[in-house]
Amino acid sequence: MQNEVINILKKEERFSDETIDEIRKVGINDFADIIMDVGKQDTEYIKRDEIQKGLKTEKIGKEIYIYKEVMSTNTVAKFLAENDVENGCVILSEKQSKAKGRSGKQWESPLGGIWMSLIIKPQIDHSKIPMITLAAGVAVVKTLEKIGIENAEIKWPNDVMINDKKVCGILTEAITKFNIIENIIVGIGIDANFDVNTLPQELQEGTTTLGHELGHKIDENEVIRLLLEEIETTIDLIYENGFEFMLKEWRKYSYSIGKIVEVKEPFNKSYDAYVLGISREGALVVEKIDGTLEKVISGECIIKK
Ligand code: BTN
Repeated sequence: MQNEVINILKKEERFSDETIDEIRKVGINDFADIIMDVGKQDTEYIKRDEIQKGLKTEKIGKEIYIYKEVMSTNTVAKFLAENDVENGCVILSEKQSKAKGRSGKQWESPLGGIWMSLIIKPQIDHSKIPMITLAAGVAVVKTLEKIGIENAEIKWPNDVMINDKKVCGILTEAITKFNIIENIIVGIGIDANFDVNTLPQELQEGTTTLGHELGHKIDENEVIRLLLEEIETTIDLIYENGFEFMLKEWRKYSYSIGKIVEVKEPFNKSYDAYVLGISREGALVVEKIDGTLEKVISGECIIKK
């Protein structure tokens, strides 16, 4: 976290090398206010007014921090979550230099993407946290429908795909204190307006962007606004009516159901299986080659056919 704070301040001309050395000496605890202050600016592409003007939410996106470049918006969100920000606070950055993907992978975050983390103070039981992750995937697909992309699908647990290529990844992290989850950080990365040929070679074939799919650049601030609204609606539906409705939506958009996958669970051998559906707890239900059923709670499922 100290590196993240130093990184943010180094990008601002107003902080001298002495201030930055001071942080190295005294630690970062007194710097939350400064990090919040830096985040009150607009950047060239991210405009607070354009996101908040007409934003139809009660909580999500009422407090927004915007950065030119951070290592990871999830790291900044974790830091701010411990410093009295509101439920529904949003962290945005134009670029990330060390963004986190699922399974410990790095996430490429050039200029032209939507890199965002939400701080949610959950009103549900521990075991139901995966539902927030699934809900975020549903909210992304609904947002894409609103901008004219009608064929987006969700690959379990929440990669958003268009025409077999990934356009969005979601990484949820929980912050616990004495075994109680105080904050959930929902990190969402959407490949919006950059050229996929600028990504490392091995990612190019499997990645698409919103701009490419629509044939024109998208208005990032509008997509962020629509997404914040969809996230609030989807999470409120969970709080008010339970999970069944959201899971029904998830199944409707599923890319995984009906496909053969290679399941790679942490610490277990990988195996091939047929995807039957998603359970009430949000686990992927698969049938192995020998006919036995398994629930996959975490890990990766690589689509084979
Ligand atoms: C995945 O591997 O599919 C998840 C990628 C999540 C990327 C987003 S971008 C915003 C937030 N900050 C991060 O460091 N990661 C998430």
